[in-house]
Amino acid sequence: MTGSNVRRTNRRDRCRRFTCGGMLALAGTASLSVAALAVAAGGDSSRVAVLDARELKPGGEATTPGSTDHRDAFSRFSNGIGLDGEARFKLGNAIFRKLWVSSPSSTKSSDGLGPLYNARGCQNCHLKDGRGRPPQADWPEETAVSMFLRLSVPPTSEEERRLLAEHRAATLPEPTYGGQLQNFSVQGHAAEGQMTIAYTDHPVKLGDGTVVTLRRPGYGVSNLGYGPMRADVMMSPRVAPQMIGLGLLEAIPEAAIRAAADPDDRDGDGISGRASEVWSRELGRVTLGRFGFKAGNPSVRQQSADAFNGDMGLSTSLFPRPSGDCTSAQSTCLSAPNGNSPSETDPEVSDQLLDLVTFYARNLAVPQRRGANTPEVLAGKASFAALGCATCHTPMHMTGDMPGQPHLSGQTIWPYTDLLLHDMGEGLADGRPEGVASGSEWRTSPLWGIGLTETVSGHTYFLHDGRARSIEEAILWHGGEAQAARDGYANLSKAERAALVAFVNSL
Ligand code: HEC
Ligand code: HEC
Repeated sequence: MTGSNVRRTNRRDRCRRFTCGGMLALAGTASLSVAALAVAAGGDSSRVAVLDARELKPGGEATTPGSTDHRDAFSRFSNGIGLDGEARFKLGNAIFRKLWVSSPSSTKSSDGLGPLYNARGCQNCHLKDGRGRPPQADWPEETAVSMFLRLSVPPTSEEERRLLAEHRAATLPEPTYGGQLQNFSVQGHAAEGQMTIAYTDHPVKLGDGTVVTLRRPGYGVSNLGYGPMRADVMMSPRVAPQMIGLGLLEAIPEAAIRAAADPDDRDGDGISGRASEVWSRELGRVTLGRFGFKAGNPSVRQQSADAFNGDMGLSTSLFPRPSGDCTSAQSTCLSAPNGNSPSETDPEVSDQLLDLVTFYARNLAVPQRRGANTPEVLAGKASFAALGCATCHTPMHMTGDMPGQPHLSGQTIWPYTDLLLHDMGEGLADGRPEGVASGSEWRTSPLWGIGLTETVSGHTYFLHDGRARSIEEAILWHGGEAQAARDGYANLSKAERAALVAFVNSL
């Protein structure tokens, strides 16, 4: 690698901002043997990383000690959860796996599905607690299951603009189809339509002449069930993300995340990072957003309640409408029988059930690192820091105090995210603002566990819409604030690229 390709800006500043910890030791301070090993693996003799023993447990003491070579590698509970916690986790798991049915039904505790929905249970999308994937073909050959389109329209009135500015709404629903396209419906109702994807080849040339062909997706909707959509509709494709370590991400103190934001890029490293501001239905005020691909939800509980409502048409105390995402333009949908009980005041999903599924989602444990200390992985780790990947994919955080969850509190964790929004350029843009996030901003994805995607989910589709078919393709899609890091990767030698990917896969 040549110096010109490496982002050497202010590394020390970055570490001050992001607490890099003992991530990187420059040659001279590193022991000779490690340096020699890194060179042998095709690494750069001028940059060598060492392993901090704590990194072996990315989820701190909550890391699961279980084996990782297993389809259930993401399905274990946090270490230290306790016997009572284990019992609650198992009950929560049952709700996560439960298949809901439409109303009216004899199974009173499981009804209320729809009328419009994307899936009948959480697990259908977050299969094995892992990530979803795009369908391999358009409907009717294959129906999208673990992926859907979010929908919204730009504001047209002062009132709508004020709602958005005050963060009381993150988006304005498409007047007929609502906030997302539900491609399923219960009997007697029409599904809203089917997502279509058309990929076109997009070859990119790396520094050494290697050509990698990316696939550029184009999204559309077919078989509209309720007439035309507004012409200015904006669509954002989302695949279900992996579910591990969410309680730990929630336990990072808000102040620490905000402290790392640099909206005006004052440190001049080309990377800004903005905090997402969202309306908390639990607190009744604006707070930091952390979950979802644009950090549109403040807590695991609200995100879960949102999923019950938007993805399955089920009401909770946080989202009380039993008709889910039905709009006033879909009148039969609004007036359909629902599962609220007894006199429609109790939601279809009680607080008890919501709390159990939230507890489950908070406690899906992060697996241990694999092969973290090999020369190749250490060389890749050095590149990860030197190229600036770690500026957004912040390696280390400390969790604060989680009331009632001592096993998640006070942990040193390695999620590889700053939970901030970054402009990722035109290539990844969905053109659909959500809350403070613009049409080209996304929340830095956590990278822990990513190397187990194939083991758990049986595929290697990455990014918010699963367009990348490998870690390498995911990196090459980075643009905007991450353009320099992406170019740095593209200019590495083949062995250095392989080492960087090996490092990411070891997380
Ligand atoms: C139809 C597919 C689907 C279903 C069903 C579904 N999810 Fe999700 N889930 C998603 C998608 C897509 C996202 C990303 C959302 C976004 O970017 O706004 C997500 C995000 C999440 C997140 C945030 C993860 C993160 O890293 O930010 C949590 C927590 C979650 N879902 C929990 C649940 C729970 C609990 C249920 C069941 C009540 C559920 N989901 C049902 C597709 C689904
Ligand atoms: C400017 C901030 C930034 C920088 C720098 C950056 N990333 Fe990312 N990264 C992101 C964001 C934001 C996403 C999510 C994008 C999306 O889903 O469309 C992401 C996604 C990823 C993913 C896919 C994760 C998943 O679960 O789908 C990988 C892998 C990745 N980055 C690796 C890297 C590597 C390696 C580097 C350095 C060469 C790097 N990133 C540099 C912000 C950044």
